[in-house]
Amino acid sequence: MSSPKYILGIESSCDDTSVAIVSKHGDVLSSVTVAQNHIHSEFGGIYPEFASRAHVATIFPTIDAAFKEARLEPSDIKAIAVTRGPGLIGSLLVGINAAVGLSLVWNKPVIGVNHLRGHLRSADLEEKRLLYPSLVLLVSGGHTLLAFMKSSTDIEVLGNTLDDSLGEAFDKTARLLGLGFPGGPALDKLASTGTANISFPKPMIKRGLDFSFSGLKSAVARYVEQNNENLIAEDVAASFSKSCFDIVDYKITKAIKEYKPASLVVVGGVAASKPLRARLEKLTDQEGLKLCLPPLRWSTDNAAMIALAGWDYVENNQYIPPVGQARLSIKDY
Ligand code: KG4
Ligand code: ZN
Repeated sequence: MSSPKYILGIESSCDDTSVAIVSKHGDVLSSVTVAQNHIHSEFGGIYPEFASRAHVATIFPTIDAAFKEARLEPSDIKAIAVTRGPGLIGSLLVGINAAVGLSLVWNKPVIGVNHLRGHLRSADLEEKRLLYPSLVLLVSGGHTLLAFMKSSTDIEVLGNTLDDSLGEAFDKTARLLGLGFPGGPALDKLASTGTANISFPKPMIKRGLDFSFSGLKSAVARYVEQNNENLIAEDVAASFSKSCFDIVDYKITKAIKEYKPASLVVVGGVAASKPLRARLEKLTDQEGLKLCLPPLRWSTDNAAMIALAGWDYVENNQYIPPVGQARLSIKDY
């Protein structure tokens, strides 16, 4: 009998329960995600205990749905790839326990996958978009990471955030302006109607390739407090957003000049921002490299990227045990 051609991916590191079935070449046979925004919105942020409980309720129905959508059986699966970190430990453990239990019942190997490796591979889901060597920017609610990829597994981290992630800075600033949770998209929209006429700081802009956004967020908080009476929210949003994207622009340009990649890949929820996309298009045109912006369903948290990264582990015979880790760097696998 030929070897099974699919990996089952399970992702539960944050507030989405996601399950997908993916081939070695990135064909997505099924992808089912159950979001939890309706649970967390009233708290203005993710409430970890409620996130874990919601995963417990949804994990097995989501796995069933993924098999139904793909019209496959557990016997068609070569391995189970489950996110082992980084993420919320309670949430991670729900996915891991489900994966380990099913691996025993189905007699299939289970691999612990690094969520960040999943994001870095997401551009190759459904079609090969990534041109190596590639510079990959991950900007989400959980992470801000700049990496240089010579191949799918030869990854050098060039920069990390030292405090808040870019999405987190957007969400916290949106909250200051009363825009709800997660407020990033609303802030981004509001910014497009304002004028960037307030000079907010651009922390660490010229210092290496690491990022820092918490000083900028605090500067906006001070400004809002001091100008409460005659605050023009859209101008605050536009000025904040300009500072953020100036920083991103500067660091990417620096990395392009230093590493000379053939493509720039941008993934993570903040990649949905139209002004950010427009700036990156201009920048890559000027610098003469390919810009890859995968569809948002692969750019935000999803299990298909975990399954695709799982293939890299299988190909390299790296059956990393699915031990949950709240913190995990790329080097840890
Ligand atoms: O990748 P993602 O869905 O999951 C997390 O890792 O959390 O990213 C969500 C993040 C949130 O912080 C959200 O506010 C931000 O991406 N985001 C945006 C936009 N759309 C989503 N930030 C700025 N502009 C947007 N249009
Ligand atoms: Zn993520």
